[in-house]
Formats: sequence, C-alpha cells, structure tokens
Amino acid sequence: MTVGPAPAGDTVLSVRGLNVVYDGPTPVQAVRDVSFDLARGEVLGIAGESGCGKSTLAYAMTRLLKPPGRLVSGEVVFHPDDGPPVDLSTLHGEHLRRFRWNRVAMVFQGAMNALNPVLSVRRQLADVFTAHRPELRRREREERCRELLDLVGIGPERLSSYPHELSGGMRQRVLIAMAMALRPDVLVMDEPTTALDVVVQRDILEEVDRLRARFGFAVVFITHDLSLLLEISDRLAVMYGGRIVEYGRAADIHTAAHHPYTVGLLRSFPSLRGPRTVLHGIPGTPPDLSRPPPGCPFTARCPYVLDACHRIDPALRPAGTGPATSQVACLHYDPALRPDGPPPALRAGRFDPEPEPDPPPAATVDEPEAGPDDHADRRPSE
Ligand SMILES: Nc1ncnc2c1ncn2[C@@H]1O[C@H](COP(=O)(O)OP(=O)(O)O)[C@@H](O)[C@H]1O
Ligand code: SF4
Ligand SMILES: [Mg+2]
Repeated sequence: MTVGPAPAGDTVLSVRGLNVVYDGPTPVQAVRDVSFDLARGEVLGIAGESGCGKSTLAYAMTRLLKPPGRLVSGEVVFHPDDGPPVDLSTLHGEHLRRFRWNRVAMVFQGAMNALNPVLSVRRQLADVFTAHRPELRRREREERCRELLDLVGIGPERLSSYPHELSGGMRQRVLIAMAMALRPDVLVMDEPTTALDVVVQRDILEEVDRLRARFGFAVVFITHDLSLLLEISDRLAVMYGGRIVEYGRAADIHTAAHHPYTVGLLRSFPSLRGPRTVLHGIPGTPPDLSRPPPGCPFTARCPYVLDACHRIDPALRPAGTGPATSQVACLHYDPALRPDGPPPALRAGRFDPEPEPDPPPAATVDEPEAGPDDHADRRPSE
C-alpha cells in the first residue's frame, strides 16, 4: 500500500512494502508493510514511542540493516533528477558505499561517538573527499573542509581539534558536515539531537533547515519527540507496533489528528498556545513485537477499541475526502464497518471518549494568587 502521494516526478525516494524481521528464537517483526514517498526537498518526520520500529526502518531504507535484522520483503527506489531510478537492492559493495555518501547520507542516534577519537576533524573530513573525490588537489580539499565547517557554524580553527576537544553539539555538527560533504539528495537523521540540551538542539535544527533551503536536499527526521516534529516537518508519519498508523501533512495532523494513538501522543506535551490543560501520557506500553497481538496493534491501550479491532489489522486509508487528506490505520475510519464515521469525541481530538468531568464549583472564599508552582501541571507525565 502506498501512502503519499508526492507529486509525480517530485519523488526522490520511494519505499514500498518494507517488512523487517530480527531473527532469533522468537523472531521480532520490527517493521510491517511500510510504504511512503519522500518528495524532493521535504522534511518527513517519523514519530512514535521507543520500540515502534523507527530506527529499524531507517536502517532498512538505507540498506544498513545488519544480522539478525533481515529485510523480508519490499523495495526502496531512489529517483535521481539526472538519470533512471535506482533500486537499492541492486547495489553492493563499493557501489552501495558510494551511493550512501553521494545520494543518501545518514546521521544516526548516538552518532556523536562515531567520530574516530585519534584523528583530527580535518583528517576525518578530508578522508571523505579523498575516498569519493580523488580528483581534488590537497589545497581544494582543505578549502572544502573549511567551507563545510563554516556551513555548520564551526570556526576553521577547529579543523585541527580532536573529537574529545569538542562539545557534544560540535561533534554532532561535524557529523552533519560529513554527511553533507558530497551534497546528498536525502539526509536521514535518527534521533540526531536527543542527547543534546534543548538550546543546542534547536541551533542544530535551525542549521539543518538553513542548509536544506540552500541545497534543497530532503530530510527524513526520526524522533520520539512529536512536538519537535510538528515544528520542523512538512509531512509526518506516526509509527506504532512497526507500522505507519497515521500519515499526512504535519500542519493537518497538528490541528486534526485522527488515529487514537496520535491523539494520545499530542496530549502528552504542552501546547504553546491555548488554554492550560493537564497533561497525560498514554497508559500502557507498546506491544512486544515478538508476540504482536492479533488485529490492531493498539487494542490494549486504545480507549476507542471495538470488538472487530481484536481480529482485523486495519490498513491505512484516507481519513477524509480531500486529495491531501491524512491516511489513518484505524477501523473507525472504515466506512464498511462504521458508516457514521468515527465517534464525535475522537473527531474532536479527545483521547478520552467520556466527557471531561465538570470543573469544581467556584470557591466562595478568597483564593490566594496562583504562584509559580501553579505551572507544575503543564509538564508531560512519563
Ligand atoms: N538487534 C536487534 N535484535 C533483536 N531485536 C531488535 C534489534 N534491534 C531492535 N530490535 C527490536 O525491534 C523493535 C523495534 O526497535 P527499533 O527499530 O530500535 O525501534 P525505535 O527506533 O522506534 O525505538 C523493538 O522491539 C526492538 O526490541
Ligand atoms: S482500530 Fe480499534 S484498537 Fe486500533 S486504533 Fe482504531 S479503534 Fe483503536
Ligand atoms: Mg530508535
């Protein structure tokens, strides 16, 4: 099944029917029937709690999956703007390695520690050019290395530094510089800033966005932080139990989420605007993918569960009628089962189908002014 649609000719990467299993005594089906089109120059955010299959998807779509991980089925096709499509499964060895640096580059979770501790920044950046642009002269290589550091907001004097002499944020910027060295068409970033403090994280994201505007590459940005994704993504895919359960324009999902899981995620962080509300997480934990439940993977936690949910694993389908409507994998949107559509509470974006209890009656005695502690209820619950 395809989610999308990216305009014809505008797709840079198409992913079709990916299924990934980790082999073992109890195999884990970590990615199930995932398909999407990545448009040239867009930011696609992939959200979902830990263990939902986000990293496995990133490894599978870049052909970096290692045993016991195994791509059971599906294909990933790259569409260059200057040649015929390339099926990634046909690339091996040196071709695959080159493809990764030149066309689809990655910055992975915990990548800050991926720099070689005994080589200077200059040497590590220059090595990329030596391997992939051997025609460059030494002076040109040095020039390119300086440019790259400058692009990610690091002064050229840092070229002589070793990784341990840099802060976490700087190391992450060096890795982003390396990933962009050959001007790839797609940058896949898996939790690239999770280990950094929020100010550094924001600086780096702004940098990535500036670079994208300048060079036009597409970004697949993976994180459990839905609020961050809503800010930076054009489109959003929400994963649960190894599947995409909601997919659409980030702005649309922000204003009208459809899947009960997305609705639950959205109420787990504070809104910058609007009235103050008490924050709740989603009770329970994601399913054990070595023993996935029959039917919909969200049944155990879903406040809108139907009898049929225990039997039928819902496919992605349009949530509304417009051409750009979000896609959602929930039986409430199956007109054959629910001709009247989803219940009003779900339509209104409420995780809890029961009406909110009435607020307590107004106090009859003078209350003290609210103090700073009064904001405590805005924090997300764990
Ligand atoms: N090397 C591995 N061997 C076995 N199972 C794995 C391995 N890596 C991940 N998994 C399992 O695959 C599922 C998805 O994991 P992952 O893709 O890392 O999710 P996420 O990135 O969303 O946290 C989890 O159930 C996880 O336990
Ligand atoms: S299909 Fe059923 S269990 Fe799954 S999200 Fe929809 S209502 Fe909930
Ligand atoms: Mg992960």
